[in-house]
Amino acid sequence: MERIDHIGIAVKDLKKANLFYKKLLGTAHYKIEFVESEHVNTSFFKMGENKIELLEATSDDSPIAKFIAKYGEGMHHVAYAVDDIKGELKRLKEEGFDLINETPKRGADNKWVAFVHPKSAGGILMELCQDVLTPDLPERD
Ligand code: CO
Repeated sequence: MERIDHIGIAVKDLKKANLFYKKLLGTAHYKIEFVESEHVNTSFFKMGENKIELLEATSDDSPIAKFIAKYGEGMHHVAYAVDDIKGELKRLKEEGFDLINETPKRGADNKWVAFVHPKSAGGILMELCQDVLTPDLPERD
């Protein structure tokens, strides 16, 4: 794993949260993106080489809606940047981690993403992400 790419934070109201984080960080979000697969609107703030990702549910069956119903607003996941997402998933599985996604899917911010279950990851939902350089999933044998 290369570094922490971003911290994901679940929010109820993205507009309000964008204003709050602008006040906190002294800089505005640089993009907003709808992620179809997760039913979320996201916004991103840059902090050096790391980012903050705010996530707002767009429907009741969004994982973010379920998270907020259970825990309220707050930290949702930590995302680690990797340069071989398939290889890392294979490695983590062999190490006994419980993968939510066996195969990477398209996430926000032009990334391939896959999640590891918090039960097997020290109580924190873990995201692996890799920059999308080609439209197809990077090949690996
Ligand atoms: Co994320």
